[in-house]
Amino acid sequence: MCGIVGYLGENAVRISAKKLELLQYRGYDSAGVGFIQNGKIHLSKTVGSVKNLRADYDSFSAIAHTRWATHGNVCTRNAHPHTSGENWAIVHNGIIENYTKLREGEFVSDTDSEVISFLLEKHGKGLNSVIETAKNLEGSFAILALEKGSELYAIKNKSPLFASANKSGIMFASDPICFCGFSDTYYTFCDKEVAKASGKTLKFYDFDGNEIAKECVGLDIDQTQSDKGDFDTFMRKEIYDIPFCQKRIYETYTNSYLLPIIKLFQSADEVWFIGCGTAYHACAYGEDVFAKAGKKTRAFIASEFRYSHIFPSKNTLCVFISQSGETADTLGALEKVDKICKTVALTNVGYSALAKSCQMVLPVLAGEERAVASTKAYVCQLTVLSLIARAISDRVVAIEIVDKQTIDELSGVAKRLVIGFDSKELFVLGRNADYVTAMECALKVKEVSYINANAYPTGELKHGFIALLSNDAQVLVFATSDDLMKKNCSGAQECKSRGANVTVITTSEHEFAGVDEIIKVGSYIQSVVFAQVFALECAIKRDTNPDMPKNLAKSVTVE
Ligand code: AGP
Repeated sequence: MCGIVGYLGENAVRISAKKLELLQYRGYDSAGVGFIQNGKIHLSKTVGSVKNLRADYDSFSAIAHTRWATHGNVCTRNAHPHTSGENWAIVHNGIIENYTKLREGEFVSDTDSEVISFLLEKHGKGLNSVIETAKNLEGSFAILALEKGSELYAIKNKSPLFASANKSGIMFASDPICFCGFSDTYYTFCDKEVAKASGKTLKFYDFDGNEIAKECVGLDIDQTQSDKGDFDTFMRKEIYDIPFCQKRIYETYTNSYLLPIIKLFQSADEVWFIGCGTAYHACAYGEDVFAKAGKKTRAFIASEFRYSHIFPSKNTLCVFISQSGETADTLGALEKVDKICKTVALTNVGYSALAKSCQMVLPVLAGEERAVASTKAYVCQLTVLSLIARAISDRVVAIEIVDKQTIDELSGVAKRLVIGFDSKELFVLGRNADYVTAMECALKVKEVSYINANAYPTGELKHGFIALLSNDAQVLVFATSDDLMKKNCSGAQECKSRGANVTVITTSEHEFAGVDEIIKVGSYIQSVVFAQVFALECAIKRDTNPDMPKNLAKSVTVE
């Protein structure tokens, strides 16, 4: 996690701090900038968001950092940049796994990162010191190092890093999104590479100091949806983007576009879906919908799968689902199987490490998603999966495009529903695909409102968690599958008979007499959107910031 930017050119501090705002999806525990003035390194740091960072300094070179704390609590002392002497300042994204071994002597911070500035000072000056330092580090690292003489260096291993240049300056960043408005082209670092920016010159080297010739690529980033406009939050704005994004999916995934995709899925003996968090829920949906389409299929949580003793056969197709395409656990799971079987990335970011490493990319087409809580990307992932499954078998009904009026209505209902919600705990139930929605609803509610919401398969009620139900329990039941309506109904009644307050979100209102509230939705996907607006309204009611929840980051690039 963490975002880093470096700039060599006029107004370096202001430019770096401005670009850093675009990287706050990677963490926002603290922010800092390091720069040279009168031949000396200066630092400016703050706890919290970049907007609190003082950046009105003149300098020709700067490095900047937005932090998601891994080692050391959230405080200015642990905020980057770090220095260990007068010659070097560093910012780091990743984890230095051998840092305890490297920490000799006095250290100011509790971070793993400080060993980098320590090593740079120890190894002396220039490129030589950078390469010696890089060789000593183990783990994942994207590092920017500012040397007193104004030179800027970059090191990359396993964490994302990119560079770009125009006639006014040279920029490094964790995400090429920072290059929008700066240049139309950029360079991608490979693992174990170093770069040196000096004056107007940018050069790349391997860890042995050999210069590398690198080709730049065109910048193709859609930032048209990155403004929140009149919406109160990015989360709400992104839920309202859903109709447009789904339409784009339908326009892109035409019959001819689907042909090679269907061929790949049909030729596989089994299809495995692998991802984390919300993307794992898309995997669970994939498992359900491809089973309906007659495929052998499984869904895995990437962080578990990567260390499990479960391996695919060579005819398994592994589909990795990730909004960002940079999730470390998902990339770790890919590394485990990519020499064994065919791999597909279902991702929203075409230039991500996941997209680059898989044999086929299925674009999610959700456009930039800024809120930490994924909403439109999730619906788009489900839409793509349903279209492919539908193309394989007409037993599957493809997810329909949700319209604005439906989102308005569902939001109104959610807003009213949360008025009566005082519980610090919420039980969310469903079966099969509805259980997937229950898991996603519980995750979303937890993330943005900090209510302890937990999902259970409805059938598991009597196997244990019914013990938790009493008069003050709040229960949501998702029930949109016709064939499971009666089963969900019994579950709802069992909760009711233990005194819980029960709300059912269903396509069939006639089944659920006696519950406290029935919310009628037109389809499965409408129930998913209801889960999202419900979580958002819980956050609004509790006055939390749904776009930047505490302790979280959007892109989880460390284990
Ligand atoms: C979603 O609301 C969460 N912020 C989180 O669970 C996320 O889905 C997960 O970290 C995986 O991210 P990815 O889709 O970018 O791989």
